[in-house]
Amino acid sequence: MSTLPITSILHSLQHQRKSLNHRATSLALISLIVVSFYIFFVARPSLDLAPIALRTDALGHAGTHGSHQQDRDDPPPSSRLFRLPSNSQRKTVVSNLNRPQIELDESQELAAVAAFIAALPQNMIPRSIDPAKPIDPQLVLDFDTRSPRAADELNQIVQDVWSRYPVMLFTKAHNAHSREIRRIIAVMDLQPPPMTFEVDQREDSEVLIPLLHRLTSSTDLPLMLIGGKSVGSIAAIRELNESGELHRLITNAGAVLDGRKKKKVH
Ligand SMILES: *[C@@H]1O[C@H](CO)[C@@H](O)[C@H](O)[C@H]1NC(C)=O
Repeated sequence: MSTLPITSILHSLQHQRKSLNHRATSLALISLIVVSFYIFFVARPSLDLAPIALRTDALGHAGTHGSHQQDRDDPPPSSRLFRLPSNSQRKTVVSNLNRPQIELDESQELAAVAAFIAALPQNMIPRSIDPAKPIDPQLVLDFDTRSPRAADELNQIVQDVWSRYPVMLFTKAHNAHSREIRRIIAVMDLQPPPMTFEVDQREDSEVLIPLLHRLTSSTDLPLMLIGGKSVGSIAAIRELNESGELHRLITNAGAVLDGRKKKKVH
């Protein structure tokens, strides 16, 4: 392959010998340099490959299985030249980059958002997001959302957040219905205590409120989540409280009523 350009250059040199054009000579010289560079830096690794392949073949025939295996695990000489990471390292990096991000359904998205804002008071949903669209999982999940283990880690977060916060309240600061809900819950003296967010006092209220409405099919605040599920409007919550159903739901979600009194008895 590499001898072909040389013969054509020599051929053209013979043809132009009489005129001995300076330009043709320098062109030929440049071509020769390019061909030499090609042979040294590009064709060389493949030339090196030939004897290695022959040797592996010979070893294979001789039946020395150990060394045969070793040769096969070595990266090819061309990649050794560029000091690429080992085959296994490269596979993990490439496979995670090529993997799509984990997709969240609405209940998983709600759990991820709740876990994120409950983890630290300064955790805010970026105001640049579109609350009408599914949130980028990377914004609210603290693990590699492209990892093969992402689905397991997400399930763990969903379980953890609702067992840690069986009752979650999203209220407004100066609002009669919010006060009423807080009062209903306060007299229950729950353990763990309810996690309450005064949503309209938060920096991210502009995006968090519509996000919560999309994820819970609600249209108004206050919002009460029991075991990660919205229990409906203030009218529904009042009814659930009067009938005793609210106690049952909260107990089923893992909270203990009169938690502090029970603790004192022990
Ligand atoms: C909730 O229901 C209980 C009866 O189960 C009632 O005594 C209480 O007043 C109700 N709370 C509110 C705020 O309506």
